[in-house]
Amino acid sequence: KQRVLTGIKPTGRIHLGNYVGAIKPALKLAESEEFQASYFIADYHGMTKVQDAEEMRNLTRGIAAAWLALGLDPEKVTFYRQSDVPEIFELTWILSCVTPKGLMNRAHAYKAMTDGNKGAGQEVDHGVNMGVYTYPVLMASDILLFQADKVPVGKDQLQHIEIARDIAGYFNKQYGGTFKLPEHFIQEQSAVVPGLDGRKMSKSYNNTIPLFEEPAKLKKLINKIKTDSSLPTDPKDHDQSVIFALYREFASQEEVSVMKDRFRDGISWGEAKAELFHAINGKMTGPRERYMELMGSPEKMEAILARGAQRARETTAPFLTEIKKKIGIL
Ligand code: TYM
Repeated sequence: KQRVLTGIKPTGRIHLGNYVGAIKPALKLAESEEFQASYFIADYHGMTKVQDAEEMRNLTRGIAAAWLALGLDPEKVTFYRQSDVPEIFELTWILSCVTPKGLMNRAHAYKAMTDGNKGAGQEVDHGVNMGVYTYPVLMASDILLFQADKVPVGKDQLQHIEIARDIAGYFNKQYGGTFKLPEHFIQEQSAVVPGLDGRKMSKSYNNTIPLFEEPAKLKKLINKIKTDSSLPTDPKDHDQSVIFALYREFASQEEVSVMKDRFRDGISWGEAKAELFHAINGKMTGPRERYMELMGSPEKMEAILARGAQRARETTAPFLTEIKKKIGIL
């Protein structure tokens, strides 16, 4: 069986971008008999940003509840919290030692911070903790320790997967073939889900629509999506429309083709937004209820995650032993 793996960090509530870009394709792959799936909550990655204990606990619960509410079957998928699998962190150090520092200097998230500092006339590394800097090595460890073949993610994670491949290559070259080179699984249509302002939907741009937002607030947020009033009836532009891009992910094929026609006929933004609200709300009513229920029973989720970590370690522990032998530590 091929292995598929992905993670989400608990730095905010699950939004439409997370769902469309990663969770939806990941759950689809997990349903197939061809794949063995491992999905996890990247809590130590989240710590590069979230440094309040109560917030960390709540956000972590939120990510766990979201996966389960959306249909992750913990009997089929190995579902765990990153921090519960210590082999990942041991391997992170090992990988750090074969990773050239220059590779980290070029990582997008780090570069964005340092470029921002330069632009603002501040010291280059202002506000950059070491977690941010070595983030890609921890992510490589997540992926390589599980020998993942495919990693379903949004396009913003592409560079991280390339870095994981590079690091695997450095290790294999030094110590002999050990790690499989992972491939990204990114679908063109959902690679970059736009947010309220048309830029990539992202917690750091503050332009997100939370997936389990209650209906009244969801409606309000959808009404806030920026539409260009100079184009209210410009026909051929459904391809350019944020509303259409989101609608397509929640409606059926028939509904989507009807919507294309309505765009061509000059649907008003008000109507388009109302349709988008109905599509999302219709699809998310069940999951939202399950989500609320799960948030009320953290013990149940704890048990699922504990079992998942145990299962994960059945493979990560022996593999790490093998790796340690290769480097002459055992
Ligand atoms: P994170 O937590 O920022 O996001 C989780 C997933 O959601 C995707 N995503 C999007 N996809 C399309 N359009 C958007 N607007 C959008 N916003 C977010 C992300 O691409 C991601 O797939 N470093 C990762 C977490 C991670 C991980 C891993 C992923 C840690 N270890 C190992 C895969 C494998 C992150 O920060 O994702």
